[in-house]
Parts: sequence; structure tokens; C-alpha cells
Amino acid sequence: MEDLSITTPPGQATFPLGGGNPAHIREVQDALRESAQALTDSRSRFASMIGDYDAPQGHEKFRCVLAAELSTLFGRPIGAENIAITNGSQASFEILFNSLAGHFDDGSWREIALPIAPEYVGYNDMSRQSRSILRASPAQIDLLADQQFKYRIDTSAFSVNSASTGAVCLSRPTNPSGNVISDEELARVAGQCRDAGVPLIIDSAYGLPFPGMIYTEATPFWDENTILCLSLSKLGLPGVRTGIVVADTAVTQLIRNANAINGLAPARTGPELLLPLIERRQLSDLCERVIKPHYLAKQQRAIDTMLTAAHDLPVRIHKPDGAMFLWTWFEDLPGGTDELYRRGVAEGIITVPGRHFFQGLESSWQHARECLRINYAGEPDVVCEGIERLVNIARRQYRGAS
Ligand SMILES: Cc1ncc(COP(=O)(O)O)c(C=O)c1O
Repeated sequence: MEDLSITTPPGQATFPLGGGNPAHIREVQDALRESAQALTDSRSRFASMIGDYDAPQGHEKFRCVLAAELSTLFGRPIGAENIAITNGSQASFEILFNSLAGHFDDGSWREIALPIAPEYVGYNDMSRQSRSILRASPAQIDLLADQQFKYRIDTSAFSVNSASTGAVCLSRPTNPSGNVISDEELARVAGQCRDAGVPLIIDSAYGLPFPGMIYTEATPFWDENTILCLSLSKLGLPGVRTGIVVADTAVTQLIRNANAINGLAPARTGPELLLPLIERRQLSDLCERVIKPHYLAKQQRAIDTMLTAAHDLPVRIHKPDGAMFLWTWFEDLPGGTDELYRRGVAEGIITVPGRHFFQGLESSWQHARECLRINYAGEPDVVCEGIERLVNIARRQYRGAS
């Protein structure tokens, strides 16, 4: 989380390629502003939004409307009782991880298993206990053409043990790599979880049904053993703090109870703003017609810039199938990406060094110190100049120059 507060030397041009902020997309913001205006124009809706506590499980009408959408998407009946609202999906994970993992009264110790490292850095340090609750399996790496590579679940390394695994968790698309695990991989993990009686948490912060930042074939998945975590953040509402948990009622009641204890009720603003967009089917249109092409265009420029700048270096990018990151592997870089990050900051370029995303591994992995995450959601000219400058710094580092 340290990149959230990093500062560059004063007076220097800054290239903010770190953090996880989504883009400000004009058409999305216009739709949300219209929704906000309609809300403030209605005396009763506005009074209720700011003047009433919501139910601890979250906005009833929003949950009903979303449940109907999700039933169609997943081809299974999902009711409002299967949905709980939180103040951001980070808050959802804190509740889920600490409920499903750690020490239990029967003396057992259970962990959250991550089928692929690297994974979302925000899963780190969640445990309220002194020991980490994360256990991760290193990804298998497939080398691809065009200076690309792709992670897969290493089926020989990943297993689900019913006695020691509290839950399995994966982000799809994955932050930081932009990986989207295939339907086959997901079906296999879901089967392993079902057989072991262990819940599968799918973090869909960048996925379906919104914001839909998936640029490859991927079938949406949910069953009664799945805890699907959604968020309004990457849609363009990170400031509003809304997370959504879709799960069996035992889990949504757990979230409801935690909401009541931690903060009485989740905020109403996100559900109120989004409700009319879902009802008018405007949200799915924005995701498909505006958000996805927006990121794809930025992604193409970032890839072209990176591959042109680094054509002579042993540098590869992860196949960018989703989200908004260029996960770059500087193979055999002397000093690794911690050093590259440090040199980058000194020249105003903010990124996130890779090792932070490899939490829960049993042994250290050199690959972790050779990767680096670049967020390409920002203004393309700034992103591209930042990438070019970063690659020049890396070239000097490869040559052993300071
Ligand atoms: C994969 C992933 N999951 C969850 C979150 C948390 O999102 P929020 O708490 O804003 O809903 C993030 C934020 O960057 C993320 O990248």
C-alpha cells in the first residue's frame, strides 16, 4: 500500500503509473452526474439517501434489481437475500478473510489459499491475528511470442485441503498481472473447492458484470459455493466506497452482521446512484460501449510504447487480458525492480515493484523481484512518456550504470 502515499522530488515532472485509480471517463461521469441530479431533484429520494440509515445488508431495492440482473447473467436464481452491500470490496475481504481463516475454537488453523501468485496486494496484512493467513502457489509461466508471457495455475502445486483451507481466493481479471484465468482453470478450481467443502472467493473488481474490463473470452461464473465480490470502484466510483458480495445466505448474513457491528449500515450513495442506470440497462451499455474500448485504446498505446522502447532488452509483458495494468518482467535485471522503482521515483516515475504481489509464498522467487506493475489508466501521453523514461532507466540498470 506504500505507493498510495509516495511523493516525488519537488518541482519535478511526475508520471503517476502506480496506484489503482481508474480513469475519469467523461461519458461515464456524465451518466453518473445525471443520476446524481435526478437524485437531488427528488426531495424524497434525497432526504432518504442522506437522512436514513440503510438496512445492515444494504439497499433493498438495489439488491432486488441487481439480483434479477445476476440471475440472467449466471443462469441461476439469485435473490436479494444472496446480496450484501459493504463500504468497498476491500471491506468485504476483511470480513470474509477473518471469518473464514485464522484460529478456530476447535483448535484448527485455516488459511486463505491463493491459486496463483502474484495476486492483489490488498489481500495482504488483513489478518487480525499475528500470523499471516495467506498461502499462495507460484504461477506457472508460459512464454509467448511478441515479448509476452502468461500465468497459469500450476496444478501440481495448488491443492485444496478441507482441514487447513478456509477459502480459496482469486481475482479475475487479476490485479496486478491483467491475467484472466481460463474457464477450464476456473471450473477445475471450483470443482476442487466444492469437493473439499471450501468456499471459492472470486474477486471481480475489474470483471463481470461491471466494469467488464475483460478483453478475452471468459464466461461469468457463480454457484452456491462461490462468494463473488463486486465493486463500483473501477466503474469510476472509487470515492463512493461500495462493495457487493453475492453468495449463499449464510455468507450474506455474516456480512450483514459485520456491517451492523462495524458501522451500523453500509452507505446508500453508491446503490442510489447506480440503481437507475441498471434499471434503464444503461450500465451494461456503458461497460461494453465506453469503458472497455476506453481501456483497450490506452492499453494498445502502452503496449506499443513498451515494446518499441524495450525491443533490445530482456523485457516481457504479461498478456493483458483484463484490468488496466501492464505487468512487466525485467528478466535478470541487476538489483531487480525494487532498485528500478527507487530510480524511477527519483525521476518522478511512480510504479509498484512486483514483490509486494507475491504474498503467501513459502519460499522466495527471483521472478517476484523482476516484475513491476504499471497502471495505464492515466492520460496516454503521460503514461507513454513515463514508460519510455522508465525503460531508459532500466537500460542503464542492465548496463550497470547508475
Ligand atoms: C483486485 C482488486 N480487488 C479489490 C480491490 C478493492 O476495491 P474497492 O475497495 O475500491 O472496492 C481492488 C482495488 O484496487 C482491486 O484491485
